[in-house]
Amino acid sequence: MAHYHNLNVLDVGCAKGANSLFLVRKGAKVDAVDIDADALSDFQYNNIFKYNTDIISFFNKHIRKRYDVIIALNILQFLPIKEIKRILPKILTSCSPGGMLIIEMFNSPVVDFINRQIEGFKVLDYGRYLKKDQKPNPHTHQMVFWVLIKPKKGE
Ligand SMILES: C[S@@+](CC[C@H](N)C(=O)[O-])C[C@H]1O[C@@H](n2cnc3c(N)ncnc32)[C@H](O)[C@@H]1O
Repeated sequence: MAHYHNLNVLDVGCAKGANSLFLVRKGAKVDAVDIDADALSDFQYNNIFKYNTDIISFFNKHIRKRYDVIIALNILQFLPIKEIKRILPKILTSCSPGGMLIIEMFNSPVVDFINRQIEGFKVLDYGRYLKKDQKPNPHTHQMVFWVLIKPKKGE
């Protein structure tokens, strides 16, 4: 698992840390951000640095570095479109050249905006699928996801 060693990862909307824990156990260093203090208190691990704040404040106040990997899974749909439009450029800037960005969210009109913003990124994967959810009532979401690589200078 040498390729995970010392990777700087940002997990935005980490909830109870399932993805953060998966990555840190493989050797990554993870900054895990969530607005929900209870969810964050559910997990603890060396090399996971938790930020109990909303994503907007995190990008405005806390961010000090570029990340090799940023995951924003199932969080953007909770933000108003106006906030997504403000935050996405900050997410893109925070990704290191050559780094990876993985986004998954409910399908929405903001997808076209995201596709325009990521122009220039290499798209390793992009797709849509249906996801069933049971709470509060059984329903289905149309999901959309991107796996992107930020180009290095000159690429
Ligand atoms: C559906 S969970 C996704 C958890 C995890 N990323 C996953 O895919 O398994 C969404 C998480 O986003 C967090 N969240 C929602 N709005 C947020 C915001 N404005 N800033 C930070 N976290 C937020 C919620 O507290 C929740 O833990």
